[in-house]
Amino acid sequence: MINAQDIHDGINIINQTQTEADLESARLHWLGKKGLLTNAFKALGALDKDERVEKAKSLNEFKEKIQAALVQSKLRISQILLNEKLNQQLDMTLPARDAIKGNTHPISQVINQLHRFFELRGFTSYSAEHNFDVEEESNNFSLLNIPENHPARSMQDTFFIGSQLLRTHVSASQPRILKQLNPPIKAVVFGRVYRSDQPDVTHVPVFHQMECLYIDKKCHFGHLKDTIDAFIRYLFGHSMKTRYRSSYFPFTEPSVEIDVWMPEEKQWLEILGAGMVHPNVIKNCGHDPDSFRGFAFGVGIERLAMLYFGLKDVRQLYGADVELLSGCDLWQ
Ligand code: DAH
Repeated sequence: MINAQDIHDGINIINQTQTEADLESARLHWLGKKGLLTNAFKALGALDKDERVEKAKSLNEFKEKIQAALVQSKLRISQILLNEKLNQQLDMTLPARDAIKGNTHPISQVINQLHRFFELRGFTSYSAEHNFDVEEESNNFSLLNIPENHPARSMQDTFFIGSQLLRTHVSASQPRILKQLNPPIKAVVFGRVYRSDQPDVTHVPVFHQMECLYIDKKCHFGHLKDTIDAFIRYLFGHSMKTRYRSSYFPFTEPSVEIDVWMPEEKQWLEILGAGMVHPNVIKNCGHDPDSFRGFAFGVGIERLAMLYFGLKDVRQLYGADVELLSGCDLWQ
């Protein structure tokens, strides 16, 4: 029969186990199907009642002691394993993991550059946001000399929100600024614009524009040309060739479109629309068109970013491809 000394020795062995496997074989040795205590309990049936009661009592005590020792050793061994793991993690000789480097988004980089250039030239920067991106129909169209039923309104398929709309161009800020400020006015405005276009390599339904507005007593086409050429050179260097093509916008007269030459593709790429502010716009916004003249232009930020970073598809700017976007860091 098992005696107290056996249990004492057994507990000593359990206390010295170092691995989960050793602990498990100690458990089986005492409590497994053919374990010493299990067999001793089975043997109780052959004893007479008094002896059985007495032996059962001490066997139960033995069992409790063994079980307590097993539980304690389990904790002790898991602490050993944890320490081993922690020691491994704290190995100061391991090389550091490569950190993923983030970047200012290419669109923000272009906006930052434009800010820098125009502020150096004495322009004040504004955000197009007024009521988030919701704009009055009058600012977006009528005050800009785009009357109802004018074909330009269908040219820019518009998202209407009741009588208001999501601005279709940042030119909508021209009336806001003209109604608030007295000339001379030198402003650049940045904002998101919305058009109901199907996304493809050159179109996304929400994109960014910068609008430039200059109003003064003496302002002529030379000022427009100087400003546009200078900002294109500031962004792209002196070798960038530009071409002015006559065009039509209801809010400018005369109107032009400006292309840049892409040497690799051997073709012109249209990057912005511009013109002398139409006298009707100046009048609609409360100023005397005989006293003031001005120029304005609007440029798509995505277009500039694609050109600068050599991207072929505008959707790449919105793909959250960290590797591609981290490569676009020439202006950091
Ligand atoms: N608002 C025009 C567009 O989104 C761009 C534009 C053209 C702006 C001529 C101007 C301008 O200020 O003079 O297509």
